[in-house]
Amino acid sequence: MIIFFVDQNLKNLPLSEILDIEKLHNVDKPIELANGLPNECYISPDYLAHEREKVFFNKWTVVGVASSIPKPGDVRPHNLLGIPLILIRDKNMKVRVFHNVCSHRGFKLLDKPCNLKNVIRCPYHSWSYNFDGKLVATPHIGGLNNHQSSDFNKSKSNLKEVKTKVWMDIIFVNINSNEINFDEYIEPLENRWSKFINKKDQNFLVHSNDYGYFNLEVKCNWKFAIENYCESYHLPTIHPELNKISNINDHYHIQGLPNRFAGQGSKKYEQLMKGNKKFDTFSNWDKRMLKNSEYIALFPNVMIGLHIDHFYVFWLEPLSMNKTKEHMQMYYIGNESANGNELKDLRKENSRFWRDVMLEDINAIEGMQEGRSSPVYNGGNFSPIMDQPTHQFHKWIANNLI
Ligand code: FES
Ligand SMILES: [Fe+2]
Repeated sequence: MIIFFVDQNLKNLPLSEILDIEKLHNVDKPIELANGLPNECYISPDYLAHEREKVFFNKWTVVGVASSIPKPGDVRPHNLLGIPLILIRDKNMKVRVFHNVCSHRGFKLLDKPCNLKNVIRCPYHSWSYNFDGKLVATPHIGGLNNHQSSDFNKSKSNLKEVKTKVWMDIIFVNINSNEINFDEYIEPLENRWSKFINKKDQNFLVHSNDYGYFNLEVKCNWKFAIENYCESYHLPTIHPELNKISNINDHYHIQGLPNRFAGQGSKKYEQLMKGNKKFDTFSNWDKRMLKNSEYIALFPNVMIGLHIDHFYVFWLEPLSMNKTKEHMQMYYIGNESANGNELKDLRKENSRFWRDVMLEDINAIEGMQEGRSSPVYNGGNFSPIMDQPTHQFHKWIANNLI
């Protein structure tokens, strides 16, 4: 059984009673002097209530990918840190997200993924909503066989929609509707990547149906996955094989400004090949950077990998303080590369390659979780050279909390 983030017994203590605020201020110091986030951010259940609100609900947070609901009427429930949501593809092919709760007596509407014909029907008393969230049927509301009531204003009981945006197939939601407009939010990253892909190229991304998805459950706080992803410092120790092909020296740091993303890039990416078969490539990729690949964590919970011949979205579903589900979604350029028979083996190999890398990382991130129970650790220090992107993520968290 999954124990979700929100423990009803939490007293909602002010942050200053949970941790030493001074320690959060220390995170924001120049890297040589800064400490990392204090232990409470990884082990204290009381801290969770704050992180949930300030780091997830106030921000653009990832809840899935659009290609997991490809057809009109496809629906999928998702639990975001205790909040039940419905992801749905409406009749105009638009992806929408609603709160997964009936406006009548509050029954949770949807339990498992499925395809719906016309309405989302509540299993309790059969109130029904169309795919725009509009309440369209209220059986027997006015007494047996009377489906209307003059005292009831249907239009006030539609489903509650969540501010949503799909970008590169990734579904982002802003639960509290208070973050800046998504286009503005993503602009710095789009500008950075304009040398690789332009807006038109984004449309050529196709999710692979056969080797396009896997997930991993890890016994650690979600933040460790992000921190680990941002740095190449651990390459020689955790990924000795990968380090032979893409050496630590061939990597560079990426620090997004304003502070919304961080990560690393490699200058030694080699396209996969079998015989003379290769995946199709992005057509507008800068010819001087054919071997560049970039790995970016867009805060809070998605890690993306961009290569000339494939793209992946590795997004995190925090299940509890020390449990996280990692979802890996893989994309290729055009239908042939993503789903054609010819390249099936290559897709299989690519998926296996990334899975192996991510499995190697699990030891590292679970080990950090265990270390965090030590009372003598205070958030530790950063290497001023190697840990810049990790520091950037810590600063983002600390600043959002304060
Ligand atoms: S709770 Fe949904 S119809 Fe009554
Ligand atoms: Fe790694």
